[in-house]
Amino acid sequence: MLFSPLKIKDMELKNRLVLAPMCMYSAKEGFVNDFHIIHYAARALGQIALIIVEATAVLENGQITKNDLGLWNDEQIKSFRWLTKRIKLFEGKAGIQLAHAGRKAKDTKDLFAPSSVSHEGYQTPKAMTTEEIETVVLAFQEAAKRALLAGFDFIEIHAAHGYLIHEFLSPLSNKREDQYGGSLENRMRFLIEVLKAVREEWPFTKPLGIRISATDYDHHGLALKDVIEILNLIPEGLIDVVNVSTGGITNYQPASYPGYQMSYANKIKANTNYIVLGGGLIKDGVYANDLLKAAECDLIYFGRLALREPSFPLRFAKQLNYDLPYLKQYERAKE
Ligand SMILES: Cc1cc2nc3c(=O)[nH]c(=O)nc-3n(C[C@H](O)[C@H](O)[C@H](O)COP(=O)(O)O)c2cc1C
Repeated sequence: MLFSPLKIKDMELKNRLVLAPMCMYSAKEGFVNDFHIIHYAARALGQIALIIVEATAVLENGQITKNDLGLWNDEQIKSFRWLTKRIKLFEGKAGIQLAHAGRKAKDTKDLFAPSSVSHEGYQTPKAMTTEEIETVVLAFQEAAKRALLAGFDFIEIHAAHGYLIHEFLSPLSNKREDQYGGSLENRMRFLIEVLKAVREEWPFTKPLGIRISATDYDHHGLALKDVIEILNLIPEGLIDVVNVSTGGITNYQPASYPGYQMSYANKIKANTNYIVLGGGLIKDGVYANDLLKAAECDLIYFGRLALREPSFPLRFAKQLNYDLPYLKQYERAKE
């Protein structure tokens, strides 16, 4: 299962293993540099099928930190093209997470959010005007166009972890009284506008996904049933993949253990028609394979494990007695 291929639109994944998007805080002015190329290509070399490049800001004021990657101007495209080329050299597929940090941007005084409600420990943001909302929607669209030019196979829109899109979705952070606030339909208007704008540039032949927080872990926030409703209200065909995470709209930290978010992923899989990417503290090949066998999700993401152990797929294959073809340069390492 873990090593069976999956085709999503025109993207053919050689197995079900995905590198979770992870900020590396190593960029200057948003550009990819040698570190990013070596870091991401090493994980493709380690046989992770889909490499999702870290949260990449669509506007400079949307960076989580000033050392995040960015695709807010055309000059940045070339450096990303180097990156996708290296990932593909090793049969990896290149995904990118497009993001705006909203009220959780750490290194700017220019904080934007749906409402002037601060995240604990952060400055108070400015409530966005409709013109400012339009500017951000357009920035997502333009970043998608740049991602296409840079050679990416997959775009994931970051709608989780308490960043801008999640801030619109959650009643904890969205107190607006206009067409972007109040009812669930209104709170998801910004997300839909972003997705439609991205699809203006990102062909329907290519897979598009969103990362969502399946719960706000707060009685007054989004619960799993709301998130399932949101996913089912997204116009059909707009997105293909849902990457399931949790939390981030407050500083609450859930107890974490291997598979701590899988109960959310499997309910989303059971109640929507999307390809579901699940994960959270997964470290063991047999367990990961069992999750797929039980149809808890379709793909599994790996974050911290992949930082420690870029070639963990080789170990997983051995655990499962699966005869994984090695790159020819590494064949002599096969036990
Ligand atoms: C260093 C680091 C940076 C992260 N950056 C991002 C990010 O850019 N976007 C995102 O959606 N999640 C981010 N995350 C969360 C991971 O994608 C993942 O969901 C989380 O680490 C749980 O998976 P794991 O237990 O396999 O590490 C980050 C996590 C880590 C450890």
